Amino acid sequence: MTDHVRTVVFPVAGHGTDFLPATKASPKVMLPVLDKPLIQYAVEEAVASGAENLIFVTGRTSRAVADHFDRAKELEQRLQQAEKQDLLNATRGTTPAHVRCLFVRQPRPLGLGHAVLCARAAIGGEPFAVVLADELIAASNGRPALSQLMDAFSWNHASVIGVQRVPDDRTSLYGIVGVRAGDGRLHNVDAIVEKPDPSRAPSRLGVIGRYVFTPAILDALEGMPPDADGQIQLTDAIARLLTSEGVYAYEYVGERFDCGTRLGYLQATLAYALRRPDLRRETRAYLRQLLASGRLDSPSDGA
Ligand code: G1P
Repeated sequence: MTDHVRTVVFPVAGHGTDFLPATKASPKVMLPVLDKPLIQYAVEEAVASGAENLIFVTGRTSRAVADHFDRAKELEQRLQQAEKQDLLNATRGTTPAHVRCLFVRQPRPLGLGHAVLCARAAIGGEPFAVVLADELIAASNGRPALSQLMDAFSWNHASVIGVQRVPDDRTSLYGIVGVRAGDGRLHNVDAIVEKPDPSRAPSRLGVIGRYVFTPAILDALEGMPPDADGQIQLTDAIARLLTSEGVYAYEYVGERFDCGTRLGYLQATLAYALRRPDLRRETRAYLRQLLASGRLDSPSDGA
């Protein structure tokens, strides 16, 4: 089995109920943080980590994702005529030329595990990564979270799950891993539970939207029964994989924003504006003005 991970799967069918009605006709991953949709940040992370094959698992409202990564001839012509080179480059540059995009339909919303299984034929027999684009992770020192996981994969020749520590009262929002021995940021996984109560959680290490798998996960997913909510869970397949192969958890470095929630999305927008040279100064000024106005201290400010 090759250690080089070339294929990344992006499940993009999710609505994001936190954002309805904004996500009624277009998927959650098309929500923009400043001027790029979440899915483009995820693709840029994958490409910067060495991905060449991008597989998007789509649903009823995901046409906008395919259109986003396609050429937009008329728009490009207009920008060219108007000599708007920056905008033209941004519009054209959604994926570099050496990258292949494949679109696979998930016919019914049967869960994350089912979405990954829908991509089986497109993945082939190679190791692959899964990226959940609503988890936006700012690279640390230029090293994307996925690239850190890919390194851990090539050292250990085994599946690696990206994790971060989560507060006690938030275990029920994540897959939580149980770990045996650890070496710095890398841990041997010996259990995984989907969204447990704090009392049942095997640790406080939450699974946060990045995975690198050996192809054996696809066998584990095949025939996996749905859970009580009718969902085929990736977490359950990982638990099954643990019975036949080693699996590692890696505590990646990087600031993470849960853009599947309105608050996380708002925080991401502010944090990314503060990082952008063209927006930093005015964003800071606005935040200072808010602080000085006393509106942040007022408990019932309905403005
Ligand atoms: C999914 C996974 C869960 C993981 C989470 C965050 O849940 O099932 O294990 O911790 O993503 O990346 P969701 O948030 O889609 O319900």
